[in-house]
Amino acid sequence: MNMVDLIQKKKDGAELDAAEIKWFINGYVAGSIPDYQAAALLMAICFKGLSRRETFELTDAMRYSGDTIDLSPIDGIKVDKHSTGGVGDKTTLVVAPLAAALGVPVAKMSGRGLGFTGGTVDKLEAIPGFRTTLEPEEFLRQVNDIKIAVIGQTAHITPADKKLYALRDVTATVDSFGLIASSIMSKKLAAGSDAIVLDVKVGDGAFMENEHDAEILAELMVDIGDKSGRRTVAAITEMGQPLGQAVGNSLEVIEAIETLKGRGPADITELAEKLSGIMVYLGGKAATPEEGYELTRQALADGRGLAKLREFIAAQGGEAGVVDDYSLLPQHSLKKELLADRDGFVQKIEARRIGLASQHTGAGRATKEDTIDLSAGIIVRKKTGEAVRKGEVLATLYGNDEKKLETAAAEAAQAFCLGESKVFAPRLIKKIIGI
Ligand code: URA
Repeated sequence: MNMVDLIQKKKDGAELDAAEIKWFINGYVAGSIPDYQAAALLMAICFKGLSRRETFELTDAMRYSGDTIDLSPIDGIKVDKHSTGGVGDKTTLVVAPLAAALGVPVAKMSGRGLGFTGGTVDKLEAIPGFRTTLEPEEFLRQVNDIKIAVIGQTAHITPADKKLYALRDVTATVDSFGLIASSIMSKKLAAGSDAIVLDVKVGDGAFMENEHDAEILAELMVDIGDKSGRRTVAAITEMGQPLGQAVGNSLEVIEAIETLKGRGPADITELAEKLSGIMVYLGGKAATPEEGYELTRQALADGRGLAKLREFIAAQGGEAGVVDDYSLLPQHSLKKELLADRDGFVQKIEARRIGLASQHTGAGRATKEDTIDLSAGIIVRKKTGEAVRKGEVLATLYGNDEKKLETAAAEAAQAFCLGESKVFAPRLIKKIIGI
């Protein structure tokens, strides 16, 4: 096979066959295909697209490009949950303990934040002592014992995706349905769970900026999951404004705990009930999704979700006292308030700008190598549709560096759009696909 022929074939709009896709992935991972040829193929894919069959073959080739995790030593139907990424998305910290409290084994690998989006691993590392790396036996044992373990992605899983994603990032080839779906699903399939719940975010703080595109991506991923023998369900959910109020690692841990105490923002509570309910259903612990939602509501109300979070933190070496005493989390020394410059209603909050502002406080990274301030971030005080008076606080920014807070406040100020007309908050859950 010859890489020039493959690039030409895709450039002409023809379909690549399974052997060609496998040859490309293996050659690229082995280093025999250079970045410039891979980049040319990626660009051709961006223009000409991938068929469903090609997307499946690409996912499969990437899934087996490195180690795959065997979760068979864990009893029960293992259910994974994945978010396509957003701003203030601490849902895993709420959903995973709830599903585990209802008997669903959650053996999860999570990522770190980059750019304007956050990552679960960073949030967990805000908890003093919490270990996001476990030996494989320890990981399996913990899930068998307490039904939940969450670790960072191991180095040897889907190396093809790691290498390709880095290349896509610098060649403007991220935004292709087939490339995004295969990237996400190859990692989920390699991670070994029996069923997968996908939270596909839509809005300006997400990869997919409109519902139509989010639906195409969601259907593609559900199709890949089902063809691979894994029950897959996707919820399309709002990311046109930050989820909840907190953005930034310690702040989001606090908000997740508050949610498990029954005092969380309405949007996170609603989303957690839905996603956990679907996990409970797919995990065979409820006969219908509706029963799953109801069981989740009960586990939230009677504190079983919170108790499971405590147990989970302690099992991974973390200070479980954070659940009762938030001062045990990393502390900021500075705060800055962003005030409304007029009366009105919040028309819109650009999630992407809030994510960037949070990054500027020190809470996020511009490059993978950056270190982050786990105490920094933003609390959004007014959400879309709320009335506001001149001088009222729209958001509070936290951190340890005055200059960074100033830059962050300037960015956050541009995120808020105030106007005279009353608007309604956008619908949180747009559609569920695959049930
Ligand atoms: N998240 C991924 O893991 N891959 C993509 O391509 C986009 C989002």
